[in-house]
Amino acid sequence: MSDKAVTYISYLKIDELLDLQQPLSDGEHDEMLFIVIHQTYELWFKQILHEVGALQPALEAGDTHRSLALLGRIRTIMKTCVAQIDILETMTPLQFNSFRGRLSSSSGFQSAQFRELEAVLGRRDHAGASADKSSGMGMAEHLIEGSPARLRVEAAMNRASVWDSALRYFDSRGWAMPAEVLGRDVSVGYQDHVGVQDVLVEMHRQDPEAGMVAEALLDVDEGLQEWRYRHVKMVERTIGRKPGTGGSAGVGYLASTLFHPVFADLWAIRSRL
Ligand code: HEM
Repeated sequence: MSDKAVTYISYLKIDELLDLQQPLSDGEHDEMLFIVIHQTYELWFKQILHEVGALQPALEAGDTHRSLALLGRIRTIMKTCVAQIDILETMTPLQFNSFRGRLSSSSGFQSAQFRELEAVLGRRDHAGASADKSSGMGMAEHLIEGSPARLRVEAAMNRASVWDSALRYFDSRGWAMPAEVLGRDVSVGYQDHVGVQDVLVEMHRQDPEAGMVAEALLDVDEGLQEWRYRHVKMVERTIGRKPGTGGSAGVGYLASTLFHPVFADLWAIRSRL
């Protein structure tokens, strides 16, 4: 083999990858798991964003099969993200305490990719409108102003969301969406809309193919909500009612983020079907 041959190690940059886990404590055993699991999540967030990047054009092109394939993959990755919480729950509060002090003010609040995912799906909290009432901050404000990460979140909040793309998909199949919804200012949070719901109810009855896309979108919405629920229960069993390292009330704040769907119209129509 020549020096230039692509190998498992060179292609996947294994040496660099395995150099990225750098515990700060004095040999506390459980810190490695904490680092590895967070890094794994960030990689899955990266992959989900990559898939969503292909999903929106597929929806807007009216490509049902590709949209279903991409949504199915996103949902499956989300299931894995939820299941991984089981691993972290093998860490007891005392084990976490052994290195928690080293985390300083670092927090999941600073996961730019998580925020980007929320924004891509449709969340719009520019400033002062966050669910984080304890700090009154917008969703990008834990990220350094002007940093590439924050700029990505802000850019996502200023372009059409996955839900906007989904509405265009339904519309392109003849399920005419209200003009004010299609032409809305996409930088503003979407409000659930009875006119849209009326169309979606009919669509489900008469267009099962589009109905499958709607169900696959619901899967993704439920997947994110499921992750939030498992995360808050994991946090509760690990730190109880202590405040978070990011400055929030901790469990109280996280509980306030539960049961907020990203595709509210898809949930609203269930009782009419
Ligand atoms: C022992 C493990 C963990 C604990 C105790 C914990 C605790 C917390 C707390 C208290 C918050 C609220 C913000 C704050 O004040 O810091 C938070 C937010 C967050 N955490 Fe965790 N977390 C843990 C593991 C994880 C993991 C593995 C991930 C995966 C990436 C994660 C992602 C996030 C995200 C994205 C947020 C922001 C949620 C939102 O604002 O809706 N956390 N976490």
